[in-house]
Amino acid sequence: MQDRIAQIEKEAQEGIGSAETLDSLDLLSTKYLGRKGVLTGLLREIPALPVEERPVAGKAANVLKQVIESAIEQARSRIELESQDGAAGIDITLPGRPVHQGAIHPITQVMEEICDIFLRLGFDIVEGPEVETDYYNFEALNIPKYHPARDMQDTFYVSDSIVLRTHTSGSQPRVMEKQDPPVRIVSPGKVFRCDSDVTHTPMFHQIEGLMVDENISFSDLKGILTTFVHQFFDDQTALRFRPSFFPFTEPSAEVDIQCVMCRGEGCRICSKTGWLEVLGSGMVHPAVFENVGYDTEKYTGFAFGMGIERMAMLKFGIDDLRKFFDNDLRFLGQF
Ligand code: PHE
Repeated sequence: MQDRIAQIEKEAQEGIGSAETLDSLDLLSTKYLGRKGVLTGLLREIPALPVEERPVAGKAANVLKQVIESAIEQARSRIELESQDGAAGIDITLPGRPVHQGAIHPITQVMEEICDIFLRLGFDIVEGPEVETDYYNFEALNIPKYHPARDMQDTFYVSDSIVLRTHTSGSQPRVMEKQDPPVRIVSPGKVFRCDSDVTHTPMFHQIEGLMVDENISFSDLKGILTTFVHQFFDDQTALRFRPSFFPFTEPSAEVDIQCVMCRGEGCRICSKTGWLEVLGSGMVHPAVFENVGYDTEKYTGFAFGMGIERMAMLKFGIDDLRKFFDNDLRFLGQF
């Protein structure tokens, strides 16, 4: 019996190993494992054996059955693989699929570039909360409740005393409360205003700057901002400081740069004026210093704030603000 089992195994392995089609494999499966197959025949003979041989023979027959089953499974995978085109079913002559590479969003790029310029000028980077208290967003900046200046900023209120910050200027009192002069910080981040059209999105980005020390004057403000504009655009770009108003700075100035599109000739982008408004700025109002406990006799300082989207549009020559937020990869992939 043992010899016959060994003989059957040898034959079966050879037959299965050389099978080339699934059909011939099915025939072999029937031949060995079928209801009228070799193995069934073998098992039928066992009761006729002497009692002491029966368990050994039974076990050997079962092992044989498993061996044949797994040989057939292996042969099936082999035949299936071989029947596909090319080596292991892979056409190695096809061009590879490009791996999509992500990139840094243009707004983030510009934000980082602006921060880098100020880092080199000795400023630190500080980030404030996007959900801000009425106090830091308004009160501490000399904008009391019901002050008409609040109308300038269409505020999203979370509750009576909590707002989505309308500007990054809240970083000024937050930093000064914690730190004595000298202070030299920039504070980038998202800001929110209830406003949406071609030139406004309800969320946009700003970067705030603040410098406070003894003997800081308006000429420091002009010097720092001129250096910044020359580094960010180029050193041929002219600036002009125009009187303006912010409750937290006095005097205040808006900063225009010579139109980077037409070089001051006058075009559609600058509404034929040759100038583009890019920054709000001014000398920190003494009331703001008083709110944070700074000595207004000893210290002076300047602050400024600018919109990142605006800077990015001018730098990259983009004419529609909304493109930044559409998340169209064809647009974003260009930067
Ligand atoms: N916070 C002002 C704005 O959002 C900009 C500004 C910042 C002006 C600092 C003066 C000083 O328009």
